[in-house]
Amino acid sequence: MRLADTVALVTGAGSGIGRAIAELFAREGAAVVAADLHLDRARESAGRIQQAGGQALALAADVSLKDQVERMTAQAQAAYGRVDVLVNNAGLATGDDILHIEEEEWDLNLRVVLKSVYLCSRALLPGMIERRRGAIVNIASVNGLTGLSEEAYSAAKAGVVNLTRNMAVKYGRHQVRANAICPGTVRTPIWGPILQRDPQIFDKLVKWYPLGRVGEPEDIAWAALFLASPEAAWITGETLTVDGGLLAGSYGMSRELLAKEEQP
Ligand SMILES: NC(=O)c1ccc[n+]([C@@H]2O[C@H](COP(=O)([O-])OP(=O)(O)OC[C@H]3O[C@@H](n4cnc5c(N)ncnc54)[C@H](O)[C@@H]3O)[C@@H](O)[C@H]2O)c1
Repeated sequence: MRLADTVALVTGAGSGIGRAIAELFAREGAAVVAADLHLDRARESAGRIQQAGGQALALAADVSLKDQVERMTAQAQAAYGRVDVLVNNAGLATGDDILHIEEEEWDLNLRVVLKSVYLCSRALLPGMIERRRGAIVNIASVNGLTGLSEEAYSAAKAGVVNLTRNMAVKYGRHQVRANAICPGTVRTPIWGPILQRDPQIFDKLVKWYPLGRVGEPEDIAWAALFLASPEAAWITGETLTVDGGLLAGSYGMSRELLAKEEQP
């Protein structure tokens, strides 16, 4: 059990990557607080964990709002006494080109993706610092590392990467670690609106992935487990790209360059 005697709070735990993280952490011995904007989704995740014999508590909170975050973290600490691991996973991605995105939508992306990391971390850091034990795992995105469109979302994710590094530097001396994961395309409900417009989108995207498939939520959960566990005790400030090789190089360019050569 890699997370025995550990309390973990996962935001956005009612769906996709957050649910996979919550379930894997519970299998590895953690007591899990599954928080989500939608209580029914959080309850479903907590129920699945409990059915499998794990410990879980479902909480509702909009992680972009200070009052709700403070209530959520107080409830988590009241239930389990402390929080050792925080996974800032909740997110959404809306809008596109800055010439077309409306100000409200820009603000929404920044609030839910970036401000939430500040709010949740601020609420839980004092306890981690006091106990000299804490691991924060921020789910960023490959969009935060390079230009892949969805500008507001991407700018917010770049902010998450930088905030992670600053937290690592600031709180390392208190034995609190902070790391970020940058997933590539992962098959989750976040893709719902795009899938409606283009049901073949995952099949189309596969060609950009050297490993020949898009990601599954569990691919990200394994990385989060490693970064949250004592196995990563000397890793902080790191940005771990989990993207099937997407950002390893420009596959499209090399394919064109080598078009006439024999390909293995
Ligand atoms: N799926 C991908 O391709 C992909 C790629 C890179 C990064 N990510 C990131 O992974 C994280 C999880 O995304 P996912 O793909 O599992 O999406 P998802 O839509 O399946 O799950 C996101 C969850 O976050 C919750 N949420 C949204 N806004 C919230 C708020 N204000 N407060 C609390 N909870 C809120 C939703 O209710 C939902 O349950 C996000 O941060 C996303 O940006 C996803």
